[in-house]
Amino acid sequence: MLLYLHIPFCDSKCHYCAFNSYTHLHHLRKAYMSAIMIQLESEFERFEVTKNSIETLFIGGGTPSCVSAQEYKPFFDFISPFLAADAEISTEANPNSATFTWLQGMYDLGVNRVSFGVQSFNVEKLKRLNRNHTPSDARQAIQNAKNIGFKNLSLDLIYGTDIDTQALLLHDIETAFSLPINHISAYSLTIEEGTKFFETPEVAHDDESQAFWFVKEIEKRGFQSYEISNFGTYQSKHNRGYWEYKDYLGVGSGAVGFLKDTRFYTQSDVHAYIKDPLNITIEALNEEDIKNEKILLGLRSNVGFSESILSHDERQKAQHLIEEKKITYHDKRYYNNDFFLSDELTLYITS
Ligand SMILES: C[S@@+](CC[C@H](N)C(=O)[O-])C[C@H]1O[C@@H](n2cnc3c(N)ncnc32)[C@H](O)[C@@H]1O
Ligand code: SF4
Repeated sequence: MLLYLHIPFCDSKCHYCAFNSYTHLHHLRKAYMSAIMIQLESEFERFEVTKNSIETLFIGGGTPSCVSAQEYKPFFDFISPFLAADAEISTEANPNSATFTWLQGMYDLGVNRVSFGVQSFNVEKLKRLNRNHTPSDARQAIQNAKNIGFKNLSLDLIYGTDIDTQALLLHDIETAFSLPINHISAYSLTIEEGTKFFETPEVAHDDESQAFWFVKEIEKRGFQSYEISNFGTYQSKHNRGYWEYKDYLGVGSGAVGFLKDTRFYTQSDVHAYIKDPLNITIEALNEEDIKNEKILLGLRSNVGFSESILSHDERQKAQHLIEEKKITYHDKRYYNNDFFLSDELTLYITS
């Protein structure tokens, strides 16, 4: 079982970001952290969580480093008996608020993996994205995390913006690899409704050959691709858990949970969530939805998917893709040879 905790606070809003995150709600932090405890208790009952059964915890956002380590203490006190001995405990962090003190506090609580929202090491690009940190903030935060003793460190990069040149992207990759990380998430800029960039969609340059080149440059330096946007010598167990279709608890405003064939949605309005953290919308998934998701998630990653979920017709289509060398088959599972083609391949098999 996986556990996700959502923190909806940010110090500034990035021009590309449509995540459930707000810059003007910091005064609600205390009330929010109390509300998550109410939902957490209730979800533990719904999911019948037993001792040592939580394999991974991921604290995401928003910006988890907007909440002090001390404020997370009741949450960790509650969940610790339920964590597996070797649980992966990750948090996202923004380089400007992940101070040495914050990182040390999170480490002391048991966090063993930090994923930094770096995006770029180029000052102009950071400004364009409306990030509020500098390249040296990012380098310092990652170095601090290493010195504190975190084993697993990751950073996020964004590519596919209008100011990207080969030289700029190469500098981003080389700087990333000069740091003590074992994982990179590299996202192609997507234009999302409701963001600042939605007014100027030309800031995104969807250049397939550049994307292909960028990914190869990361792989060339020894970080294996295990999903369309994820690379490393370490593969995040939490990410893999989603693609393997494991059950997950989702706690916090706008978080989503999943149990067997049902999804649970909390309220994404932070005020409303605090008022009633147990107001949860339930969505029942049908067999078709589940099958299509298993195929897409399996093809976007090295998890693959089982032959047993396909109909006779779909197996024939999959066979055709094997002959075309688009996918491979072993141990009764199909695996994608090129994650960039996952959407098209899923559509081909399922339509
Ligand atoms: C929740 S944020 C990470 C943590 C923290 N809030 C931060 O930004 O430093 C998750 C990541 O998603 C990526 N992301 C968000 N919106 C995106 C978009 N529209 N296009 C590409 N990447 C995006 C960014 O790389 C970001 O670091
Ligand atoms: S990318 Fe991260 S810091 Fe920027 S607005 Fe989104 S959640 Fe906040």
